[in-house]
Amino acid sequence: MSYKKFYEKQSSTFQVYIKNTNQKEILVKNIIKKLSSSFKLKKDQNFVFTDVGAGDGKVTIPIINFLKNKAKLTCNVIEPSDLIDDFKKNCNFDKINYSKKKIDDVKIPKSDFILVSHVLVYLENYQKTIKNIYASLKDEGIALIVTTNPKSGDVLLKIKLGRDFASLKNLDLTKNIINSLKNNNLKHQLETIPSEINTLECISLNEDGKAIISFFYHKPFDELTNKDIKDFQNAVNGLSNKDNKLTKKEDYIWILK
Ligand SMILES: C[S@@+](CC[C@H](N)C(=O)[O-])C[C@H]1O[C@@H](n2cnc3c(N)ncnc32)[C@H](O)[C@@H]1O
Repeated sequence: MSYKKFYEKQSSTFQVYIKNTNQKEILVKNIIKKLSSSFKLKKDQNFVFTDVGAGDGKVTIPIINFLKNKAKLTCNVIEPSDLIDDFKKNCNFDKINYSKKKIDDVKIPKSDFILVSHVLVYLENYQKTIKNIYASLKDEGIALIVTTNPKSGDVLLKIKLGRDFASLKNLDLTKNIINSLKNNNLKHQLETIPSEINTLECISLNEDGKAIISFFYHKPFDELTNKDIKDFQNAVNGLSNKDNKLTKKEDYIWILK
């Protein structure tokens, strides 16, 4: 099953995986820090925040909650999957425009801040999308593209397990995005930010553990063999620290207009 198909069918395993990392919490913290230091936020001044591939809003909603008291906020949520329905349930902010569409099928509204977290990996022609993102920024606007660092614990785990989805496309994504930004003379900064994945559940094989293993294999848990599960547990043991934490790394590519 392709990653996209798996993701559409089994987004619940992604949500369990997310529950067992501090990755999103760290992302939100870093975004708030950047917004606070880069913009003079004023209650009577318009601020447009667009989240592309926002999922169910785990990252978007805390940022909205931060911005809504600091500026006259409008938010645009672009999310092609049914996760957008969960977003609507989870969020009570009313100045949101929802587009249940893919990024390349919408005109991104002019924005002060555009977030594109773990989305470009799904696109065939992300060079074109990057140009669109830049063109949609207001002057002095900022975009953040988040990708998985090739040395991230979850990538090392996939490589150890010999999974084909640890493909070259994933491994070279940050490098290719940076090259594309350089070729187009777009101002940018790269940061690599660590976070942790709790792997204890995978060893004890409780419901969360089964979902996490399923998420890593991109296969429903009951389709995995005992060998798959043992291989996973051995690999995760080898890569985790003594507290059963696997270090994940994300690349934050800030684009500055
Ligand atoms: C790994 S999730 C990331 C969710 C969220 N941005 C985060 O960082 O937690 C990827 C999201 O991108 C969405 N997505 C996939 N292809 C997309 C496309 N072409 N345009 C916009 N969003 C897309 C998926 O539906 C999913 O919600």
